[in-house]
Amino acid sequence: MTAEVFEMKLSKIGRNLKSSLIRDLLRYATLPGAISFGGGAPDPETFPRKELSELAKEVIEEDYDFVLQYIPTEGDVELKKEFIKLLKDIYGIDDVNEDNLLFTTGSQQALDILGRIFLDDESYVIVERPSYLGALNAFYTAFPKFITIPLESDGIDINYLEGVLKDLDRRGEIDKLKFIYVVPNFHNPAGVTMSLEKRKALIELAEEYDVFIVEDDPYGALAFDENPPESIFKMAGKDRVILLNTFSKILAPGLRLGVIIADKDIVRKAVMAKQSADLCSSGLTQRLVARFLQRYDIMDYIKPTVEVYKKKRDAMIEALERHLRPLGARWNKPGGGLFLWMELPQGYDTMEMLDIAKEKLVFYIPGSAFLVESNGCHSMRLSFCLPPVEKIYEGVERLADVVKIYKEKKGL
Ligand SMILES: Cc1ncc(COP(=O)(O)O)c(C=O)c1O
Repeated sequence: MTAEVFEMKLSKIGRNLKSSLIRDLLRYATLPGAISFGGGAPDPETFPRKELSELAKEVIEEDYDFVLQYIPTEGDVELKKEFIKLLKDIYGIDDVNEDNLLFTTGSQQALDILGRIFLDDESYVIVERPSYLGALNAFYTAFPKFITIPLESDGIDINYLEGVLKDLDRRGEIDKLKFIYVVPNFHNPAGVTMSLEKRKALIELAEEYDVFIVEDDPYGALAFDENPPESIFKMAGKDRVILLNTFSKILAPGLRLGVIIADKDIVRKAVMAKQSADLCSSGLTQRLVARFLQRYDIMDYIKPTVEVYKKKRDAMIEALERHLRPLGARWNKPGGGLFLWMELPQGYDTMEMLDIAKEKLVFYIPGSAFLVESNGCHSMRLSFCLPPVEKIYEGVERLADVVKIYKEKKGL
């Protein structure tokens, strides 16, 4: 089959699928000697491998008829019970029951499901600028119209958002706006956290214009200095907010275990959408995590993990001060999570600069990867989660070399 015929055979979605820059970069990042600030993969040393392997043996031997079988799409009831307790511990949420939960294959699947049940080519969806690339990709497949709202150091720009909502309303199109997608805690990719005032203002706007908020929170439990403000779901309730969570960053992403917490009617629709994707998520990892939550206090358990990431953040900031500050770079100090957002002066194009970074074997994700309109951009996302501390120092030094070479080449 020729390339043209192959192209014609594809669906509109198939044709539209692009390879992810992050996945491509991750290939380079595994070259010998490479230092990667690219992907958001957690440090494997933080994975509770001994505990999980013991529990895995136990659940396979004792619960084999459940964990090796198909399970109900909604998920393991034992895990639901444990997760309801966890929601109270982490967020103070105490008004959800089993009907409000759906376990998914990572929260990436939750994003895909939300895209499928809410969006189509007539819909509007509001996202932050920059936004989590995986969410943009998941929503893209439904061909909605994206409206992007600038992100500030304390979260989404509320005035801008209000202007957009007013405008949609004036044009009689507000009903086509399905949800506002936000990552309020230790944002991926920007590292910022939404202030309490902005959370309240966001809820007020969502109420006024009758639109859902999708609160995606993989990083809230990874707080270095102080806990993030109250969750939007906790404040506004399940009539207004769909909360997404995941065990990827607090236990291990290989479990592929995420969760949708929402009104039961939304969960019902999501269950149907999930059935056509994978019938059910793994019963093995769900029961494994249920047992883990029964045996260990997970919030206590992750304290050393949080300490590891805090040290790495501090190392990165120290190295940036030393090597990148003199080159005019600016960055934020994330209060948790895995990412930091760095801006080079105007005139730099971090996508173009990647060629030099590849030669120097240091990797980052260009800021344009996180934008809907991905034109030239002088920012980058730096993840401090994966390399050990000494490699962070070395990698930042290499990055400074990359910037210097680019600067010279471009005469900046
Ligand atoms: C904001 C955000 N949402 C969702 C995900 C997906 O996580 P997972 O599918 O591993 O649960 C990620 C992963 O990096 C993320 O950063």
